[in-house]
Amino acid sequence: MNKQRMLSRWYVPATVGLLMSSAAFAAALTRDNGSPVGDNQNSQTAGPEGPTLLQDSHLIEKLQRFDRERIPERVVHARGTGASGEFVADADISDLTIAKVFTPGEHTPVFVRFSTVMGYRGSPEQARDPRGFATKFYTSQGNWDLVGINWPIFFIRDAIKFPDFVHANKPSAVTGVQDANLAFDFFAHTPEATSMLTHLYTDEGMPDSYRHMDGYGVHAFKLVNAKGEVHYVKFHWKSAQGVHGIRPQNIPTSIGSDWNLMSNDLYGALKRGDDPKWDLYIQVLTPADLDRFDYDALDDTKVWSDVPERKIGTMTLNRVPDNYFETSEESAFAPSRMVPGIEPSEDRMLQGRLFSYADTQMYRLGANYNELPINRPRVPVVSNNQDGLMNASDRKGEINYEPSGLSDVAQSPAYKPVQTPLRGTTQQAAIHKTLDFRQAGEYYRSLPSQDKNDLVTALSADLNHVTNDDNKYTMLSYFYKADADYGKRLAVATHADLSRVQAKAAALSDN
Ligand code: HEM
Repeated sequence: MNKQRMLSRWYVPATVGLLMSSAAFAAALTRDNGSPVGDNQNSQTAGPEGPTLLQDSHLIEKLQRFDRERIPERVVHARGTGASGEFVADADISDLTIAKVFTPGEHTPVFVRFSTVMGYRGSPEQARDPRGFATKFYTSQGNWDLVGINWPIFFIRDAIKFPDFVHANKPSAVTGVQDANLAFDFFAHTPEATSMLTHLYTDEGMPDSYRHMDGYGVHAFKLVNAKGEVHYVKFHWKSAQGVHGIRPQNIPTSIGSDWNLMSNDLYGALKRGDDPKWDLYIQVLTPADLDRFDYDALDDTKVWSDVPERKIGTMTLNRVPDNYFETSEESAFAPSRMVPGIEPSEDRMLQGRLFSYADTQMYRLGANYNELPINRPRVPVVSNNQDGLMNASDRKGEINYEPSGLSDVAQSPAYKPVQTPLRGTTQQAAIHKTLDFRQAGEYYRSLPSQDKNDLVTALSADLNHVTNDDNKYTMLSYFYKADADYGKRLAVATHADLSRVQAKAAALSDN
């Protein structure tokens, strides 16, 4: 029995208590002030035929609370499912980082939220969409959020394009319905998306279960060791359940069979004790390594294809949270939430994300969202941040400033962010080594033939909705530039003039 219910029981007036049997008493309904509700089925009225009374404060309170049950949904990743578990580190990487979450044998509680990106909160879980894979590690040095997706890359490489990317892919501002015409209008002017679109239209673009997908941090992050040395790393969760997607011919029956397949599958597995696991792998580069590629290694549209991976731990999800709203809805993940030894790289997308998440969460959940149980660190929070809507931090004392000779709060230990060398002047310019198409082609050629067929089937079906001829041929030229076989097959499937596709592709550079 929780504390609140015990309190309300304590304050039930003796006369009311006498009217209840002890069994009914334990489960007695109360109002929000803890006082017992008598009749929860009939409103107070002025006589048998008269209007309902304003003095029925139980009725008024019940309707007021109901009227306010919804909060703004996430502007992206609104449809999601959370689960709890733990991460166990199993490799000594103290040569790379001082982050305690990676001390071998350390058990760290985690909360993971899987999601679709574009759909609204109640939308089907099987849309063709990337899947969010966000992990909150409640570490002994504070919370670390690894907010990733199920692929190693993204559509765009600069945060300034993110609102446009989302507007073009969300439902139309006129019809409220997603429109391939608008999406491909944006992508025809965004050649760096070619690789990610190729991933999106494989079977993995519709995973058949959240358990059957990998997760990636996508960006490079910096790990910092005790000597202050920096390494750039990428994180990869490998599913122990394997990776499976839905084939195009199975989409109608699969979606028809269960609108909530992904949540039912995950929670079904957890309830029967079939706990899913992911191993965490890292790729590591030194700062000097960054320049050795013919692409920009900090561009999030690129994979580090020839860099080996090493395993550093395993995550097991083992519990369905007790309350969907207080966990999946109220959870707030942010790439800016890091711990000593883990820092952001200079990736231009990540840099924008460092601002955007905490900002949207202050709007969506309020200034004190970090005090909600799902977001609260498992270590004490000692800061001079205070007050604001719904504050319940229980902060004590009047020294809410620093420096102070009166405070008993110790100075922070001397952790300083690592120093990054800079060059040049401020600027507003694209990166130099764009290489927009080559990795898309390498990925296409790595697919088994059935996957290639499914990719062409699914992608051409959407390209066939593109009514603007220029946009359609531009898209086809990008895929042709990535790989001639890929481009030819799409041209056939979309009834396009191959020579026009080839001419457009020949005019593209890939460097
Ligand atoms: C500059 C580019 C981006 C911006 C501005 C951005 C912004 C946002 C915003 C505003 C949210 C909603 C957060 C909330 O209401 O709690 C969100 C959610 C999310 N984003 Fe991004 N995003 C960007 C790129 C990315 C990328 C590249 C990834 C993957 C690596 C990603 C993964 C996610 C995930 C997984 C969530 C859902 C987290 C959850 O389950 O609550 N985003 N993003």
